[in-house]
Amino acid sequence: MPVLYDKDKRIFTLNTKNSTYQMQADSFGYLLHLYYGRKTEGFIDWGYTLADRGFSGSPYDAGRDRTYSLDYLPQEFPAQGTGDFRSPLLVARDSSGTYGADLRYSGCEIQEGKYSLKGLPAVYANEGKEAETLIITLKNARLGLSVKLMYGVLPEKDIITRSVTVRNDGTGTITLEKLGSSCLDFTHGRFDLITFHGRHAMERQFDRQELHHGSHVIGSRRGMSSHQYNPFVILADHDATETSGRCWAMQFVYSGGFEAEAELAQYGQTRVNMGMSQEKFSFPLEPGEEITAPEVIMTFSSQGLERISHNLHACIRENICRGKFKNAPRPVVLNSWEAFMMDFDGKKILDTARLAKSLGVEMFVLDDGWFMNRNDDYRALGDWTADTSKLGCSLGGLVRDINAMGLKFGLWVEPEMISEDSNLYREHSDWAMMIPGEKPVLGRSQLVLDMSRREVIEYVYSSVSSILDSGNIEYLKWDYNRSISEVYSQGTYGGKVLYEYMLGLYEVLERLSTNYPDVLIEGCAGGGGRFDAGMLYYTPQIWCSDNTDAVDRLYIHYGTSFGYPASTIGAHVSICPNQQTGRITPLKTRYASAVSGAFGYELNPFLMSDEKIREISEQIAYYRRDRELISCGKYYRLNNPNDGNYCAWEYVSEDGANVLINAVVILNHGNMPPVYVTPRGLTPGTLYRDDETGKIYPADALMDSGLPLEAPKGDYESCIFRLRRL
Ligand code: DGJ
Repeated sequence: MPVLYDKDKRIFTLNTKNSTYQMQADSFGYLLHLYYGRKTEGFIDWGYTLADRGFSGSPYDAGRDRTYSLDYLPQEFPAQGTGDFRSPLLVARDSSGTYGADLRYSGCEIQEGKYSLKGLPAVYANEGKEAETLIITLKNARLGLSVKLMYGVLPEKDIITRSVTVRNDGTGTITLEKLGSSCLDFTHGRFDLITFHGRHAMERQFDRQELHHGSHVIGSRRGMSSHQYNPFVILADHDATETSGRCWAMQFVYSGGFEAEAELAQYGQTRVNMGMSQEKFSFPLEPGEEITAPEVIMTFSSQGLERISHNLHACIRENICRGKFKNAPRPVVLNSWEAFMMDFDGKKILDTARLAKSLGVEMFVLDDGWFMNRNDDYRALGDWTADTSKLGCSLGGLVRDINAMGLKFGLWVEPEMISEDSNLYREHSDWAMMIPGEKPVLGRSQLVLDMSRREVIEYVYSSVSSILDSGNIEYLKWDYNRSISEVYSQGTYGGKVLYEYMLGLYEVLERLSTNYPDVLIEGCAGGGGRFDAGMLYYTPQIWCSDNTDAVDRLYIHYGTSFGYPASTIGAHVSICPNQQTGRITPLKTRYASAVSGAFGYELNPFLMSDEKIREISEQIAYYRRDRELISCGKYYRLNNPNDGNYCAWEYVSEDGANVLINAVVILNHGNMPPVYVTPRGLTPGTLYRDDETGKIYPADALMDSGLPLEAPKGDYESCIFRLRRL
């Protein structure tokens, strides 16, 4: 059984295929965390020691027993004000300004299926039996505060999820100054924290640091999950590798600001918390009101980082992404952005689309610059009316012409934004998030619409739906190009705005995906500024970065791959010198680096030589052949590009029969020693044939001693191996 409850000991056990999670409501009613690790039988209620520890106080009910202290004990939902001075998940204040909420166990409930969260994205079960839910209620009598901890268990996926609803059942206002979603407490251990930092055009760079005393905190104060830190962390045994050692992951299903904190405390305990950003959060709950914190997906592996990624990839692909595209092959696109920026007209678009079609492209995506007054990025956001004189016809007419070529049509939008130079701003300047009396910070010369307001939600929904109604638009690229700096709303209390903003955005996306189920929405925030499991619930793919340089992308994809499957990664081949880095790389390498589950081109094909055009059409044919393997296969990182002069990775089909290995040698050197890549996941005891060379390889030898790469003749050369099991 995935969820077990022992009434006598009040022990809760969550079991997945390979892991066990355990907690206990102890004799004082505190909910202690007992265990999260390798699958096991029995009760692990012997994993901590009680001792009289100076300056670690005891609850009053412990009487003269000074050995019991929450300052040491591992907990499930640590609240401030209980004598635990580590970082809490909950900070609550009553109307007199007094802090503290001593939460005690009040009851539990086990339900079939996976809980869902009203207005928030969350893991879902595909059928009732795929998941079970445990709900534990904690209460504080003085405040009348009720805390519902929700645990979702997907045993076959090795996934456990957590969320929490806090409700005011009392008579006065209770203000939450912090509300985290999940906590993982360990009494001992030597751990590394793995995080993914970055910046615009260089997102999700792998970082691994040993924990030392104190807190290691990452997060975003930007109202978006951000380019700077991804809302995803892994705690790993200090000696854990790709294939060995214990690792625990926490992935936040939320696209707003967040905070992840790993704390090594005085007695050697480690606590990892994940939740919404505490800054600019202050949430008053009136009697009868409640708030739900976003979900965290957790997974454990005793076999290293690779297993963590496999578990998360399967969960995101099958239990986060929804709709008809979740498992559908994504079209090969040609996107107009790096080809023309905003400098185009209808003829250019149609000529390009025609040539793209002849190469095998399946969808033409018209990026920014298609609507009235939008010939630069200083204006017009908010006024979603097509520029018919620039396009030479109506938007619907353009879509028809492109469809007539046998191509699908996709369109760029940035609906959460408003330019000062727009009719929308002239009519509704108060819809922009600005603090009255202060000059706002401009980001890309634009302001953010206040998505916490009902009228704004309705405007955004109706503008996007009327665009979709104007023609057979089968794809939307949903962009978002600045951070939120002014947290002010005419209708919403300041400390609630950022949370309500996200609910507003999620409502619009939910309505659009329900009412336009045939439209594939790609998320984007200046590339990968909102690459998170929250967005993936509505947009099954996300433009991974504004950086299309083949070499930089190796590092971006490497970092992204820890938490997110290839099917969600938008990546395109662009021209050289690359627009972001000026680097010149072979076209083959640009393909090898970009080939992901949401693949395409972002270039003007008329600038390519005949030879390159032929190469592109061959690449598209290869991609179409391998697309399913790439999107649904198991992904293996064959090395860490930060530790060497090459990057290699591999896709293996679920049945092990088909294998694709891509490798890029970064710099060439004089008389360079050969580079070997060692594949994993092949079927032992079988033979594999290389499609191109006809060579036959024994699987065991390949997985043991590796495959030598051809000596490069220049920098940035790549090798692609397509192996088939005989
Ligand atoms: C930022 C995106 O990431 C780009 O791909 C492009 O769509 C531009 N915005 C358009 O303004």
